[in-house]
Amino acid sequence: MNARSDMIPESEPARQYFYIEKCRQWLEKKKKEKGRDLTCGIFTFGCQMNFHDSEKITAILKQIGYVNTDSEEADFVLYNTCTVRENANERVYGRLGQLKAKKKKNPDSIIALCGCMMQEEHVIDKIRESYGYVDLIFGTHNIYKFAELLYTRFVSERQIIDIWKEAGEIVEDLPTQRKYTFKTGLNIMYGCNNFCSYCIVPYVRGRERSRRPEDIITEAKRLVSDGVKEIMLLGQNVNSYGKNLKPQITFAELLKRVEEIDGIERIRFMTSHPKDLSDELIRTMKESEKICRHIHLPLQSGSSDILRKMNRHYTKEGYLTLIDKLRQAMPDISITTDIIVGFPGETDDDFRETIDVVRKVKFDSAFTFKYSKRTGTPAAAMDNQISDEVMKKRFDELLLAVQEEAYERTKRFCGQVKPVLVEEINAHDPDMVTGRLENNTVVHFNGDKSLIGQIVDVKLSECKGFYYIGEINK
Ligand code: SAH
Ligand code: SF4
Ligand code: F3S
Repeated sequence: MNARSDMIPESEPARQYFYIEKCRQWLEKKKKEKGRDLTCGIFTFGCQMNFHDSEKITAILKQIGYVNTDSEEADFVLYNTCTVRENANERVYGRLGQLKAKKKKNPDSIIALCGCMMQEEHVIDKIRESYGYVDLIFGTHNIYKFAELLYTRFVSERQIIDIWKEAGEIVEDLPTQRKYTFKTGLNIMYGCNNFCSYCIVPYVRGRERSRRPEDIITEAKRLVSDGVKEIMLLGQNVNSYGKNLKPQITFAELLKRVEEIDGIERIRFMTSHPKDLSDELIRTMKESEKICRHIHLPLQSGSSDILRKMNRHYTKEGYLTLIDKLRQAMPDISITTDIIVGFPGETDDDFRETIDVVRKVKFDSAFTFKYSKRTGTPAAAMDNQISDEVMKKRFDELLLAVQEEAYERTKRFCGQVKPVLVEEINAHDPDMVTGRLENNTVVHFNGDKSLIGQIVDVKLSECKGFYYIGEINK
């Protein structure tokens, strides 16, 4: 190689494209030595953010020349981790333990860890101590440097750990790879400033940073020209999008700009924080042809007292008023939520308030969680932590209430004809396909793979709790 092509660009993303090429050459050599292709397996825990980050990493691995598999026997295995609740961490440690034997069988294989768990010092200490066979560890702020870190690992053959405490620049225009050709997530912001007292996300994802609207629109247009019909705008609190940009822009304004792009058929977003849900956003949703009639609006608790201790900045009544406003503007809208039981100090009366909101609102579905103590968050140091026994009792009761209401609500479209975006062949019956309504409800109906990626009118013949069995409307 001559000296010129060895000059390492300093600016991004050029630098990463340089390393992608270096990795590719290295892998080419390895493939020749082994006389076979090399495979990679990416395993993602956690939320949409992590899934989207995994898509970016997968794209880079593909450019480098790895063949993607879903097996943990792969030559390169990556766990993209989540730390929002303790059980997410435990799952990673469990699976990591099993990888040790596989590494013995295939010593050339590479094990990598990234994601939110890696931003915690005690996790890194534990991995250093007990999981010395992990090859590459990086965090949430330097994902864009993946190719460079991997190359360092390729040539040095020692354990590489690179974790940044703070976020650096937002790097645009790296390759991405989509799980589905027709729908994808698009980050509009990173990090979170809300510091809900139970939540670790602000500590592991850093401060809130919005991407520039021009960059978002450019990316959305590129996705559409690439076949994408449905875009999910992603952020921990999309309702505060744009507040730290100059000139300022609201989330509703951004939505209007995305809506103008020809070829986009469905726009979704996640997550909305109730404290920042504006009338302007409700109006924009109502007037829009493309924004899906669905909002994920985490309640967390129905007790105003607990909400204050959670640092959520709204009350039970405030939340119910928002629901009224949304339903008045869009009577058919689907509302989904997240609820935590057993926050420190939660009394039976507090819990009754949560059940009361569930009964009043009738959520289309809800993710329910037992409170999990996260080291370093204010709630972890609060008195009156709730016993496992009480937590479990409340959790079971909540789940039942949520399921009863959700079933009643889901079936409201029974007998109607609705557009369904077809996603895949049904996992259990190859003569059926599976897709989603605008409100995200799953529908199964007879069809073949030619329908994948199409939006088709389906008659919703039978409601089976949380999903429908339908038939194509001819
Ligand atoms: N940014 C989003 C949520 C991100 S985390 C929002 O503010 O709504 C996803 C969900 O995990 C949260 O809504 C909350 O219900 C749950 N969660 C977060 N921290 C938790 C903890 N310590 N214990 C249990 N559930 C938690
Ligand atoms: Fe966590 Fe609250 Fe931020 Fe959501 S808004 S990520 S729950 S701190
Ligand atoms: Fe988990 Fe990180 Fe998302 S902690 S919920 S993967 S932001």
